[in-house]
Formats: sequence, C-alpha cells, structure tokens
Amino acid sequence: MVKIAPSLLAADFANLQNEVIKLEKAGADMLHLDVMDGNFVPNLTFGPCVIKAIRPYTKLVFDAHLMVKNPDEMLEWFALAGADIITVHAEVCPHLDKTIDAIHALGLKAGVALNPSTTENVLEYVLDKLDLILVMTVNPGFGGQKFMDNQVAKIAKIRKLIANRDIILSVDGGINPMTASEVKAAGADMLVAGTAVFAGGNYAENIKALR
Ligand code: DX5
Ligand code: ZN
Repeated sequence: MVKIAPSLLAADFANLQNEVIKLEKAGADMLHLDVMDGNFVPNLTFGPCVIKAIRPYTKLVFDAHLMVKNPDEMLEWFALAGADIITVHAEVCPHLDKTIDAIHALGLKAGVALNPSTTENVLEYVLDKLDLILVMTVNPGFGGQKFMDNQVAKIAKIRKLIANRDIILSVDGGINPMTASEVKAAGADMLVAGTAVFAGGNYAENIKALR
C-alpha cells in the first residue's frame, strides 16, 4: 500500500504540537517537513528549532525536505533536531555523492529531491547509496499549487532506474485523490500531501482517500 507523508506546511503553525499528534492518530506513515530559506525558494518556513520542538510529541519518522541553497552546511543541525531522513535538492549539491555520505555519517537516511526541470539522470551514479527519491510535481516553495502532469513520465523512468533497490519513490506537490492515482500507476510508493490532508480537518478520512 502506498505510504502517505503529510506535509506540515499546511498545518496550523500556531498549534503544531496538536497537529503532529493528530496526524499520527490519523494514520500518517511519515512526517514531511518543508524547510525553506527564502533563497533557493521564494518562501521562508521553519528550521531545526521547530523540528526539535515537535520531536517529543510523535514517533513518526521525520523527513526534512531542505529547500535551501546551502544544505551541506546545515546537515548536522537537522540530525541534532531529530530528523530521521534528510532530503536535499540535487540542484544545489555539486558533490551530491559526498552530501549523501555526509548524511549517512550522521546516522540518517538520505533522500534526493528533483525540481520539475531537473532530469532523473543526475541520480544514476548515486542510486546505490540512496534511501529516498523525491520527485517534485510543482516548483517548490508553496503549498496548494497545480500538479504538473509532465512529471508522471519522470516518475515511471525513475521507477525503472530503481529496479530492485530498496529506495522509496516519493512524489511531492499538488497531490489529491485524482493525481494520486496517476502517480501510483507510474510507480510512486509514497505521496507527500499538504492541502489534501488538511482540507476540512478530517485527516484520517483524507489520508484514506489518497491511498
Ligand atoms: C512545496 C512543498 C510541498 C508542499 C506540498 O514546495 O515541498 O511539500 O507542502 O503542498 P501541496 O500538497 O498543497 O501541494
Ligand atoms: Zn516538500
């Protein structure tokens, strides 16, 4: 069954403690934490202090999606804050292989995210050491954007590249019950969703609809 990773970006930021407790009860498989620096993407969210603050309230795996210009300088901050997976953008990691090693050296799992305009070929020589691939189906920066259909072919290509490796293929941006079916058919095994999980407040029902 496809895994659901709610994105905290759509949560009530004035009540994060309660939100993470509710998400775990609602059946979320992982928590997706959108870290934005106002530089790599045109928006600012939260950093390690907020992640550390919510860590005691849930056992869910934390995936920190770093939408920042200089992830290499920040990896340790997120490890100390309690992240389990750190996902970096290939576009800002000239030595991607080395960055993945640095994440593993901190005892965490490593993910690589690709912007819509980035080719899947950048993954070829790091596949053997990757734990997660995050295909962006919107240009990162904001929740509630429209799903980009032209990324479905990329998801299918990456599914083939992964072959029998133990790598989570995750999709992020514009996921709703309709687009969820498309990306699942293309081979995704995890869906990140903000708007679709939080809309209306019945998180369990919304998560069920995405599965
Ligand atoms: C976008 C973020 C996403 C975002 C998804 O830059 O990386 O995780 O929260 O939001 P929705 O599901 O609303 O498209
Ligand atoms: Zn994200």
